[in-house]
Amino acid sequence: MNEPNKKTDDHASSTNESVSASADSNPQAPIVSTEDIGVGTVIHRSDQPAGQHASSSQTPNPGSSIETVSVVEFDGVTKTYNAGQPNAFTAIKDVSFVVKDVPDAGEFIGILGPSGCGKSTILKLIAGLKPQHPPTEGSVKVLGRDVTGPGADRGMVFQDYTSFDHRTVLDNITFGLECHGVRRKVREELGRHWIEQVGLNVTEDQHKYPHELSGGMRQRVAIARSLILRPRVILMDEPFGALDPQTRLSMQDLLVGLWRKVQATVFFVTHSIEEAVYLGDRVYVLSSSPGTVAREVEVEPPNRPAAEMQREQKFQDTVYYLRDLIAAEEALKQAGM
Ligand SMILES: Nc1ncnc2c1ncn2[C@@H]1O[C@H](COP(=O)(O)OP(=O)(O)OP(=O)(O)O)[C@@H](O)[C@H]1O
Ligand SMILES: [Mg+2]
Repeated sequence: MNEPNKKTDDHASSTNESVSASADSNPQAPIVSTEDIGVGTVIHRSDQPAGQHASSSQTPNPGSSIETVSVVEFDGVTKTYNAGQPNAFTAIKDVSFVVKDVPDAGEFIGILGPSGCGKSTILKLIAGLKPQHPPTEGSVKVLGRDVTGPGADRGMVFQDYTSFDHRTVLDNITFGLECHGVRRKVREELGRHWIEQVGLNVTEDQHKYPHELSGGMRQRVAIARSLILRPRVILMDEPFGALDPQTRLSMQDLLVGLWRKVQATVFFVTHSIEEAVYLGDRVYVLSSSPGTVAREVEVEPPNRPAAEMQREQKFQDTVYYLRDLIAAEEALKQAGM
């Protein structure tokens, strides 16, 4: 935020350049190997000690007097459910990453990994929801402060349609504003604006109840309900998982358009590798349980329509690479390693 152009420039530079630059400026920083694939650059970082990062957006510049605010920061985070009890279970272990603020843009982080590796646990730790919050070890910070519970700076959209059944589309979308005491006239005006923003029809849809909507329409309502509060961080847990392929592609395009407008940082969990590669600026690949960030891939931003970009060979190359990586993680899990 304080450096209007700097972060964008950093982000545009290739990962290889940024890795060697950070190693030069800090001789103690471990060299992290990188590998170019398709539309992305893989950063091999599974051997990184907690808190040591080498990508451009993650390494503080020791020479800079201006602090860039971290939007989300995990430092050595471990979550053990039912800690101290016979059924204790460690879902994620020693997870560290930093997502910096990208001024006038916000970063889009796709999160992939085998089922049960702790993706939802990570999102809910950011959201400050119990029982994921608080972490068993380590710290979770949002905008530089320890997370102490849910807050309006973070919005969530889940796979299961989470609208209130007894509220209309308009009342669902304006629910958060109502909780904040915004006057009916003002919130309904804003609500109708957001109905349009997510591609619904004000006249036809505003008075409908959730049971009268398709799955795609309900997710549009959920997105509008979250974005109307203008959160700095948007947490999306498989939001399009239940949609048919065509609706899913159009929702991806919708999301890209909205994300550019709201300029928030998005964490997007998905089982669709295509979706993560298309939407993400960066993809985190989690290892199998207990999860940790095994790989990080910087990918091309979604600067063309989903259906078009996802047909490209280099896009597919990245998808195949990640598919193999996740399959290897699954195999390790099956082998109990
Ligand atoms: N409240 C809880 N109490 C105990 N264990 C839990 C709890 N929530 C999650 N777990 C366990 O923690 C592990 C990680 O769960 P999590 O829901 O984060 O995985 P995930 O990566 O989101 O999986 P999926 O892709 O299937 O959604 C799983 O083994 C799960 O059983
Ligand atoms: Mg999950």
